[in-house]
Parts: sequence; C-alpha cells; structure tokens
Amino acid sequence: MARDAVEMSAVDVVIFGASGDLARRKILPSLGRLEARDGQPVRVIGAGRTHMTSQEFRDTLHKASQNGDLAANAEWVSLDYSAPESFKPLKEALASSESAIFYLATPPETFSNIVTAIAQSGLANNGDVRRRIVVEKPLGRDLESAHTLNLQLAQAFTEEQIFRIDHYLAKDTVQNVLALRFSNSLFEPVWNRTLVESIMITVAEEEGIGLRAGYYDHTGAVRDIIQNHVLQLLALITMEPPTTFDAEYVRRAKRAALRAMSPIDPATAVRGQYEGYLDEDSVAPDSRRETFAAARVVIENWRWDGVPIFVRTGKALKRRVTEVVIKLRDAPLLRIGGRRQRGIPTLIAIRIQPDEGISLRIGAKRPGTGFEMVPAGMRLDYARLVKTSLPDAYENVLSEVLAGGHSAFPGAEEIELAWEIVDPLIRAWESGGHPETYPVGSWGPRASEDLVAAGGAGRWIVSGDEPGTS
Ligand code: BG6
Repeated sequence: MARDAVEMSAVDVVIFGASGDLARRKILPSLGRLEARDGQPVRVIGAGRTHMTSQEFRDTLHKASQNGDLAANAEWVSLDYSAPESFKPLKEALASSESAIFYLATPPETFSNIVTAIAQSGLANNGDVRRRIVVEKPLGRDLESAHTLNLQLAQAFTEEQIFRIDHYLAKDTVQNVLALRFSNSLFEPVWNRTLVESIMITVAEEEGIGLRAGYYDHTGAVRDIIQNHVLQLLALITMEPPTTFDAEYVRRAKRAALRAMSPIDPATAVRGQYEGYLDEDSVAPDSRRETFAAARVVIENWRWDGVPIFVRTGKALKRRVTEVVIKLRDAPLLRIGGRRQRGIPTLIAIRIQPDEGISLRIGAKRPGTGFEMVPAGMRLDYARLVKTSLPDAYENVLSEVLAGGHSAFPGAEEIELAWEIVDPLIRAWESGGHPETYPVGSWGPRASEDLVAAGGAGRWIVSGDEPGTS
C-alpha cells in the first residue's frame, strides 16, 4: 500500500470510544501488533464519556493488545462529545504532540459533535497532514446526513487529513481484485456484457448480532454492509481500468462505476430477519429491522448494461463466506455422436474470506475413453503466496493511516453515491411491511432464491457448494 505522505514518526493516536467493542476487538489489538512489528512509536490516548483512570485504561489496552510497551504510556481523557469545553484536557495532552490521529470509533450519531469539538478546540490544524481524522463506517444514515458530515469534515480538515474507513478495502483479497483484473491480460477481455452472464456478491456471516443490538437494531443489513462493503467491492469489480493504481485514480474509477449504478428498486430486493432476532438482548420487541438483504443492482453503461447483478448479505446464515462469483456465458454445446455435451459454465470465484483466493471453474474432459465433460477447478490459495499469515484488515487500515496513504479509503463522493443507490430501499423498508423470517443456519428467505431466478441469474452460487469449485 502507498506510504506517500509522511515518514514514520512519533504519533499520538486519540481513540474516541476506546472502551467500546470495536476498539477492544479490532483497533487496540491491531495497534499492538503494528507497534511490535514496525516499531512505530505510538502513544494511545483513550477519550470517551466513561470515567476511568489512565491506569485502568492501560490495563484494558494491555489486555486487548497484548502489548505492554504500548500500554505503558497510554492515557485516558474523560470528556463529553457535545461539550467542546470538555476537550481542554485533550488539548493539554496534545500540547507537545508532533503528530496526532483522531480515530472516531463511536456510534455514527456522535461524529458531528466530535468533529465540531475537535475543530472548536483548535485541534484540527486544517491543512496539516500531521493531524489526521479517521471516521468509522457507516458515515451517516442516508445521503443527506452523509453529505452534512462530509461538509463538516471539510470545514475542519482538508481531504488529505481525512480517512473514512471501510475495512473491506483494506483486506488483501479485496486489493487483489485490482491485481487480478488489471495485471493479467487473461481476464479483462471477457469482463463485460458480451461474455459475462451474471455477477453475484455474497457477504454471509454465521454469527447473529451478539450484543450489538444498540447499534444494529438502528442500522440493519443495508446500512451496515451493502452501502459500504458490498458497493465498494462491486465498484472494484465493475469499474473501468484506472489510469494508475494510485489512490486518486482508483477513487476516480470507482466513482464512475458507482455513478452508473441505478438506485435499487425495492421491487427487486428481499429483506429477512433471522428467527430469534427479536429475543436478542436489547432488540425492540416489535423490531422490523432487516438482518438479511438481497437486491438486484442495475448498471447502465457500455460494459454492463443488461447483465444481472445480485448482491446479498446477512447474519446467522449457513456459513461465513464473502465471495464474488462471475459467471461467463456458455460455450456452444458441440454434439458428439449425435449426443449433446453437458454445458459447464465457466465461473470465476473471488474468495474474499475466509478461504482467501481465486477459483476458476471450467469444463474438462473426463479422463478415459469417450468424450464427456465434467466440472473441474483451478485454484489459487492466497495464503500460500506468503509464509506468514495474512494481516488483519484493521492492521492494514491503521498502517495506512499512520503512513498517510489513502488507497484503502473511499472518498467523500463515493460514500454519497453509495447512499444514493441504497436510500430508496431503506426508505421503502422503513416505511412499512415486515421482513420475512428465515431459519438460523439457512441462506436467508426463500424469496431471495426467487429473486435471482426471476432476474435471469439462475440461483445463488458460492464456491465450495458448486461442483468443480472446492
Ligand atoms: C462490519 C459490520 O463493518 O463488518 C459488522 O459492522 C460485520 O456487522 C463486519 O460483522 C464483518 O467484517 P468481517 O471483516 O468479519 O467480514
């Protein structure tokens, strides 16, 4: 990834919401590994509404990051997000700071207050890339709120100082989509409506919402996954070749791809809620929140016009799998001895996780006498390219923020374009009706299969379940 803006130097990382779930599960452990790996001098400052001592925070940090050095010089600052004057102790803590990163790992509705307070306390240093701000997804709840937040961020910081997180973009396998498409002359010539029959994206999780109802029951699958991870992935899959792999050109190509996607028509979408969701801790007893969403995405441009494109995501599904499957058109079925050969469509499966890699399913001749076609697989296992295990996406995110590069972050306009695509669906679903319930451990509501069949894409495909792809 690009390390284009600043050299490695001592950095203060101010984490708002540092006692929360995301910080404990992802941010602090990743910081701990990065500090140990790169020797990056980091001082963590936890900031939040919780009252705790710096020593208590050091203990939390130590436990979460397994890194005693990182914990040793950490500090905790209690403040009130909606009261800029309460940011004074933070300002004092940063008085001699060379470089500081503000990481907003708080619920989206707090972003606006925190950005205002940072700016009013004179901490943003507009234009100085040694001050950076990191905001978690989802940015806003709809186009309007995202636009307001982007404006607010732009008033306090310049674009080089802003990092909007979509941790999917920091996954190695997602970055590898660029390499697959644009560093191999094999794929690009078939990557269009002439030869692609359908595109499917599945982001399935086996786990339910756990203890995250406070966030999830107000958010749902469309805001949580489709608006960001799925549409970013789809943009990378469908965009035109960027001029270079530099962040600005990749963003430009993604923007053009997102602009070509029509707003989702609620008539070609299916929502679901897993059985037992209403009994989860802190879920509203009559919640209509969707834990599953499937939809057709229409792209109107020369490359993709008319190609059925379907995306789906859900909690409490059959297994954890994130995958893009590109199905190519059938080859003509030649007869042999008057008998038709069996059609075996070529599938390109980009396995984002958990079994990272790429599979190509082709038709091959069954070995032996006679001429019969059978499905056969060619497979790249991504982890085998390196001896070490793949870094966690949050480690990549943080390493990129520390280095000041932007290649793993969506730009402001991309985020707004993505809201434009999902807003009609969110509005329709929030204005009435009920999601269909689906059994835990299934692939979601039955209607999701019907959606794909009616849309001319046959049925949902994930490799592993498909002959020739395991
Ligand atoms: C997050 C969502 O962005 O992504 C979570 O808020 C989801 O609901 C998570 O579980 C999935 O990330 P990953 O990397 O485990 O696929």
